Amino acid sequence: MKVDVLLGLQWGDEGKGKVVDVLTPRYDAVARFQGGPNAGHTLEFEGKKYVLRSIPSGIFQNGQTNIIGNGVVLDPVLFREEAEALEASGVDLRKVLKISKKAHLIMPTHRLLDAANEKAKGASKIGTTGKGIGPTYTDKISRNGLRLGDTLHDFDRKYAAAKARHLSRLTMLDAAPDAAALAALEQKWMDAIEYIKSYELIDSEHVINTMLREGKSILCEGAQGTLLDVDFGSYPFVTSSNTVCAGACTGLGIAPNKIGEVFGIFKAYCTRVGSGPFPTELHDETGARIRDLGHEYGAVTGRERRCGWIDLVALKYAIMINGVTQLIMMKSDVLDDFDEIKACVAYEINGERIEQFPFSVEEDEITPVYVTLPGWKTDMTRMQSESEFPKNFKDYIDFLEKELETPITIVSIGPDRSQTIERKK
Ligand code: GDP
Ligand code: IMO
Ligand code: MG
Repeated sequence: MKVDVLLGLQWGDEGKGKVVDVLTPRYDAVARFQGGPNAGHTLEFEGKKYVLRSIPSGIFQNGQTNIIGNGVVLDPVLFREEAEALEASGVDLRKVLKISKKAHLIMPTHRLLDAANEKAKGASKIGTTGKGIGPTYTDKISRNGLRLGDTLHDFDRKYAAAKARHLSRLTMLDAAPDAAALAALEQKWMDAIEYIKSYELIDSEHVINTMLREGKSILCEGAQGTLLDVDFGSYPFVTSSNTVCAGACTGLGIAPNKIGEVFGIFKAYCTRVGSGPFPTELHDETGARIRDLGHEYGAVTGRERRCGWIDLVALKYAIMINGVTQLIMMKSDVLDDFDEIKACVAYEINGERIEQFPFSVEEDEITPVYVTLPGWKTDMTRMQSESEFPKNFKDYIDFLEKELETPITIVSIGPDRSQTIERKK
C-alpha cells in the first residue's frame, strides 16, 4: 500500500480540510505532517461547520486513525481548546487521535517572540498568524526545541532553559513580558500539557510504517500551500516549514518510494493572506467581488484575504515541485456569475515573456499576461455530476488541463461535503 498526499498549490486556504474529509473513507489513516495552529481547515456537513487547526481533517468519518506527525508544531493550549470543542460536539477524539512524541511544542514565549519579531520588522513584516510558528521552527532547527516526548522526562529543567533563552531575546527586542502576565500564560500552558498527555503519544514513524507493512493506506494532509513553503515559496513571505510533498516524508518518517498519488488542490482563482508578492492580485472591484462571493476571510485570524485571478505560471511550478498526479479544483461556484474569467499564462518582466516561475515575484517587476475565457453564467452549486456542467465550464476545465498537463479529477462546487463532483478518469 502507498501513501497519498493532499496539499495546497497556492498560498493556502485552497479547501484542503473539505477534501480530506471527503477522501477519508478511502483510507485507514489521515496524518498531518507540518505546520501547526496557523492552519485553519474548514469542513461543512449536515448543516454544521468546523474549523480545525492542529487536528487532522479525518476525524469526522468512520473511526479512521488520525495522526499528528513529528513535523507538526503544537500549542498545547490551542490544542486543548480545539479538542475540547470537538469532544463537546460528540467526537470521541481519544479513540482516533494519536500524536507524535517528536512534534515540537509552541511555548507561550514563542508567541511573544513571533509578535516581537514582526514588530521589529516594521513595514516589511511577514503578516504571520501570530501563533509562534517561526520561533518554534527556529528552535527546532537550531536544536533548542522542546518536543512533546520531552514532557515525559526532566521537563521542568528543559522548559526553564528554553524560557530563559527566549526572555533574553525578548529583552533585546525591548519586548520583555510582564512577569505576572507570563506566569498566568505558563500556568494555563502547563495544565494543557497535562491534558495533552492524556492522549496516546506515539513514535509515529514506527506506527505509520507498521500500518504500511500491514497493507493499510494513509492520506497525508498538507497545511498552508506550496507558495508558502520555506524553500520554494515567495521567501521571506512564507511560513517556516516545508509545505511541499517532500515535507510528508520528513514530517512523518515516510520513505519517498512509498508516496503514491499526489493530490494538488487549487482554487479557480487565487488568494493570499498576510504580506508578500502576489502577481495576479486584483485591487479593483473584481477582487472585492471575489472576496465577497468566496467569503474570503481567514478561518483563524478573520483577516481579509487578498484576491486575484488564477496564476498558471505559479501553479505549473507547484505541480512540478510536488509531483502532482491529480488536480482538485475548488470554489469554481464563486465564479458562476462572472461574464469573463482570466487566467495568467505568463509573466512579463522587463519586456520579456517568462513562463518559468522566477526567483523573485515582486509585483512591481511583473506584469501578468492573461488569457480571457467566457464565463459560464450558471449556478452550479446543486449539480450532481459533471454531465450537468455548462459548456463554458467544461471548456475552462479542458483549458486548465491542457495548460497544466495534469488531470482535474475532482471539482468542488460549494463548501459542503456533498458539493463535490468526481470526474471520470
Ligand atoms: P484550507 O485551509 O485549505 O482547508 O481552506 P480554508 O478552510 O481555510 O478555506 C476554504 C474556505 O472555502 C472555507 O470557508 C470552506 O468552507 C470554503 N469552501 C471549500 N470548498 C468550497 C467550494 O467549492 N465553494 C465554496 N463556495 N466554498 C468552498
Ligand atoms: P491553511 O493550512 C493561509 C501565512 C500567514 C503569513 C505567512 C507566515 O489554512 O491553508 P506563520 O504564522 O505561518 O508564520 O505566517 O503564512 N499562513 C497562511 N495563509 N493559510 C494558512 O494555512 C496559513 N498559514 C500561514 O498569513 O503570511
Ligand atoms: Mg485555511
